[in-house]
Amino acid sequence: MMELPVILFGLGGVGRSLVRQILDNRLFHAETYGLRVRFVALCDSRSAIIEPTDGLTDEEIEAALALKKEGKSLAHHELGGSQDDLSAIVDIAGIPGTVVVDCSATEQTVPALLFALSRDYKVVLANKKPLTNQQEVYDRLTRAGDTRDAPRDLARLRWETTVGAGLPVIATLTRLVASGDTIQRVAGTFSGTLGFLMTGLEAGRLFSEVVREAHQLGYTEPDPRDDLGGVDVARKALILARGMGHRLEMKDIEVKGLYPPLMETLTVAEFMDALPQLDEHYQDEVARAAAEGKVLRYAATIQVTDGRVACSVGPTAVEKDTPLGRLSGTDNLIALYSRWYSPNPLVIQGRGAGVDATAAGVLSDVVEMAYTV
Ligand SMILES: NC(=O)c1ccc[n+]([C@@H]2O[C@H](COP(=O)([O-])OP(=O)(O)OC[C@H]3O[C@@H](n4cnc5c(N)ncnc54)[C@H](OP(=O)(O)O)[C@@H]3O)[C@@H](O)[C@H]2O)c1
Repeated sequence: MMELPVILFGLGGVGRSLVRQILDNRLFHAETYGLRVRFVALCDSRSAIIEPTDGLTDEEIEAALALKKEGKSLAHHELGGSQDDLSAIVDIAGIPGTVVVDCSATEQTVPALLFALSRDYKVVLANKKPLTNQQEVYDRLTRAGDTRDAPRDLARLRWETTVGAGLPVIATLTRLVASGDTIQRVAGTFSGTLGFLMTGLEAGRLFSEVVREAHQLGYTEPDPRDDLGGVDVARKALILARGMGHRLEMKDIEVKGLYPPLMETLTVAEFMDALPQLDEHYQDEVARAAAEGKVLRYAATIQVTDGRVACSVGPTAVEKDTPLGRLSGTDNLIALYSRWYSPNPLVIQGRGAGVDATAAGVLSDVVEMAYTV
């Protein structure tokens, strides 16, 4: 049996679902791959439980899951201690072959991830923020541009779920790039919430009404501006553009949110009350697009012209008869137009969010990592 040591940062929705799926799949992984995941450390924002030698027992792990489900800190666990330095956790708990999995939502994990890579450990990210940091950090994490080490390092960092959750977006992009294919254009929608909103607008509903419904259904963040601002979609576009080999920063992405900057300073309640002010604008936008035979989508577009990349995110009128134009509902979609996939693009579509689908994608990365050298 191959024992795979795993250190996990983050026990929120995705982290807990990942642990649950690993426990539930123990027999399957043992019988199919001769694999057993051995958790050597579990960390939340301020505390950790560590068992470097034998790994945590399933009972100790279940107790940690129960605590986190109740919203408590791991400090309350019988093995719990405070942590303010994830690198120290990696140092103490890591052994050769360790996989560090980042299911947090902070860029504070970057030093520990770099430290893990310097130790030749492997890293799996659900967390986008390390990859949307400065280009220099991205390069150090992925060793982009270092052709000598690149093939080896591709095998040491996986980030499949950072774009499109469990959908194989990054793997597909990486395969196209590795084959020498040239990607000329990427058009995608990477937010189920904004997909829901655009479908509602297309059906003739008012902007304020659909945003309020999405908020009530829990589709949006508690502050809907976190979705409507488009920054999360921009992060995904940046990860894709960098994955295509382009060098750019967040500031190079043109991000157009769905509300004016003036509404930034309002409280959440004031913002919700002010939404009807935007209804007429979006009715006009939808009508203008329809008059041209188009539909409105919240799209991320990466366009490469003569080697120069332009990346934008925002409400976009797209031809009805395209994969993006035909999309409705909350699915994510990415259309990749390349030398070999043109004029018809390579299209990936499906559920692009949700803690369980995301955790399943992370687990696939972890299992694949077990067998890469
Ligand atoms: N949910 C989705 O559908 C989805 C899809 C794709 C990707 N993702 C990404 O997956 C990641 C996790 O998402 P989530 O929904 O599980 O988030 P979440 O519920 O907010 O959980 C975040 C976890 O990270 C922990 N954390 C925060 N700062 C930390 C630090 N400095 N060191 C260690 N742990 C730290 C938090 O600790 P406490 O418990 O102490 O607060 C919490 O357990 C995010 O980056 C998200 O963008 C999510």
